[in-house]
Amino acid sequence: MRRKMNRAAKVIALLFVLMLTSGLFWGRADAASGKKTLVVYFSRTGTTKKAAEQIQKLTGADIVRLEARKKYPSDYDEMLEAAQKEQDSNARPKLASKITGFKKYDTILLGFPIWWGEQPMAINTFLESYDFSGKKVIPFCTSGGSGIADSVRSMKKICKTASFGTGLDVTNAGKSRLQKWLKSNGVSLAGASPEVTIKIRKKDVTKQTCSLTKGEKAALKVSVSGWSGGKNITYKSSDKKTVSVTSKGVVKAVKAGTAKIKVTVKNGKKSAASWVKIKVVKKSTAKPEQPEKQSYSG
Ligand SMILES: Cc1cc2nc3c(=O)[nH]c(=O)nc-3n(C[C@H](O)[C@H](O)[C@H](O)COP(=O)(O)O)c2cc1C
Repeated sequence: MRRKMNRAAKVIALLFVLMLTSGLFWGRADAASGKKTLVVYFSRTGTTKKAAEQIQKLTGADIVRLEARKKYPSDYDEMLEAAQKEQDSNARPKLASKITGFKKYDTILLGFPIWWGEQPMAINTFLESYDFSGKKVIPFCTSGGSGIADSVRSMKKICKTASFGTGLDVTNAGKSRLQKWLKSNGVSLAGASPEVTIKIRKKDVTKQTCSLTKGEKAALKVSVSGWSGGKNITYKSSDKKTVSVTSKGVVKAVKAGTAKIKVTVKNGKKSAASWVKIKVVKKSTAKPEQPEKQSYSG
């Protein structure tokens, strides 16, 4: 009986380790902290649908298709006219789809085709149908070349409670372009581990040696890509007597030598770290070099 129990405990421990390494655990932690991403898209002929599904695959986010209750004409010219009429009358076409649990998403990747230079009016209905306070909307579109800028401007006016990320016209965008765009908007990529970037005076010093003069102070600016939501940053010096660091990330070069500053970023149960090595040099006593005198003839 006791041996059986031991075996069961071992199996449970092994499953736990497997969950940790496979990322399942992190997925659950994300859900526990309520940080989730949703892809919402509207598409008539399937181009935006294809792009939305690709984005869903890259992010592992949930996905919902928005559809208008009233069907649009199948004839192209009639369709153009119907869309134009909706735009001219600032219509809010009723939606057939309803999103349950909208509250739990903090990032909405919102996709649509460009209709007459902007987002279809059904997108406006969507933006006015849910509570977007505290949410980040990252728009994407497909188009015949018009681009997304006008839509972003218009959506910002309609949905004032959300913050907007950088939009992208994803027509013909490849995987790496999409990944770059998602990362720059702080969206986690499925299976990717987050990256911590450390900057001193706008210069990327991540995993590098950076020189400071004895007595000098510098603020570390930390950012993390591949994560959305809140984060908690801690700083640790390998040798406080050489380089000290405050809880806000201000380093001080105390005495000549070298020390490593470890930066750890935590988000719920996820954590990621990076470092910068600070070399403290004594103040230079040498006089600055004088520029050579130039003589002009002629
Ligand atoms: C009513 C309507 C208006 C459109 N207006 C524009 C436009 O102003 N600029 C543009 O570049 N493309 C325009 N298009 C082209 C679509 O944006 C493009 O074909 C899009 O990829 C279609 O996406 P979907 O297949 O997801 O519906 C328009 C298409 C329709 C049907």
